[in-house]
Amino acid sequence: MIVTSLSLEQFRNLDSLHLTPSPGVNVIYGENAQGKTNLLESLYYLSLFSSFRASHDRELVRLGAESALLSASVQTEERERVISVCLPVSGRRSITVNRVRAARKADAAGILKCVLFCPEDLTLIRGAASLRRRFLDDAISQLWPNYLSLLSEYQKLYQHKTRILKDYHEAPSLLDTLDDFSARMCSVAASIIPYRERFCAMLAKAAAAEHAAISSGQETLSLTYETVSTIPQPGLPPPRLYELLWQHYVSHKAAELASGSCLSGPHKDDLLVTINGLPAKLYASQGQTRTAVLSLKLAQRELYFQQTGEYPILLFDDVLSELDRGRQEYVLRGIGRGQVFITTCEPDLCRELAWETEGSGQMGVFHVKHGSVF
Ligand SMILES: Nc1ncnc2c1ncn2[C@@H]1O[C@H](COP(=O)(O)OP(=O)(O)O)[C@@H](O)[C@H]1O
Ligand SMILES: [Mg+2]
Repeated sequence: MIVTSLSLEQFRNLDSLHLTPSPGVNVIYGENAQGKTNLLESLYYLSLFSSFRASHDRELVRLGAESALLSASVQTEERERVISVCLPVSGRRSITVNRVRAARKADAAGILKCVLFCPEDLTLIRGAASLRRRFLDDAISQLWPNYLSLLSEYQKLYQHKTRILKDYHEAPSLLDTLDDFSARMCSVAASIIPYRERFCAMLAKAAAAEHAAISSGQETLSLTYETVSTIPQPGLPPPRLYELLWQHYVSHKAAELASGSCLSGPHKDDLLVTINGLPAKLYASQGQTRTAVLSLKLAQRELYFQQTGEYPILLFDDVLSELDRGRQEYVLRGIGRGQVFITTCEPDLCRELAWETEGSGQMGVFHVKHGSVF
């Protein structure tokens, strides 16, 4: 798939812009704090309707403006669709696909699929489980948008149950509904887990292949999806998952009441990453960490290709110049097919990329300065 045009109004520090990207590699270069990442962020936003770095949508609206507008034409082999979003500082966001309003996020998510690799991703291996869950959730939501609806349903129940666990001392009658909320959470969780299980199994295969190739067969990467401890195999049918989730809840209910927090459910899931049999979180070197993250991202891209027959767009924010020569070459060879957006502060990288993509004639170069794109 390719983005054939991108229009932005009042988005972050960017002036209103209409961009026609190349179907191949697009290099976005400029000094620091000029708006390069903002440009990638807008594309990412059009894929999942959440930012990878803002906690509130209002941060995305240019300071002093009342609303931002984002719009992209996305062309796949089958058709071309225009995804647009209006983001007001206050009030409801509206999303349209070909001018038809999308009632739910899930109706428009994943039309534009993108794989993002940014410097913060280097914490994916060594950081908290929540980072790996976020990676999985974003990746799964683009592929299977209904998953997004399950996640938001789960999130609502989770917040409600947490409120019960926090407030029942003052209002004991709240406890009457605790089991009911827990049962509903178990039920949604029993639908979430199979998505994660299926995705992780496919990702594990693809990531192992990428990692072996980048490390020239020196290292073995393995990924294991870890969920609630009473579930021995996440691949079980949902009714059985429900029973096991409920069992876990029952045995943790006293602890939940004592701690005032929700201890049972897939909101604590993790993705265990090992390199040569050792947990990467504890033992991976910096180089291994980089290779592992790169493997995960390229695997996500391959997986989308396997599932849909099209490559997603690839967003590389400031990371290519950070990689050593060997890994850079591996990436550049691999991204020959598909549309890519790369930001960099180094003009040299543009020249090298121009050389790498020579002959294809498919390179766009954009200079970002003070929020303007040239
Ligand atoms: N909502 C906003 N309104 C105006 N400016 C913003 C907004 N959000 C971020 N910026 C500005 O955008 C700039 C950072 O852009 P960014 O894309 O991260 O830079 P870089 O080119 O280094 O990737 C900063 O100067 C920041 O102040
Ligand atoms: Mg940046």
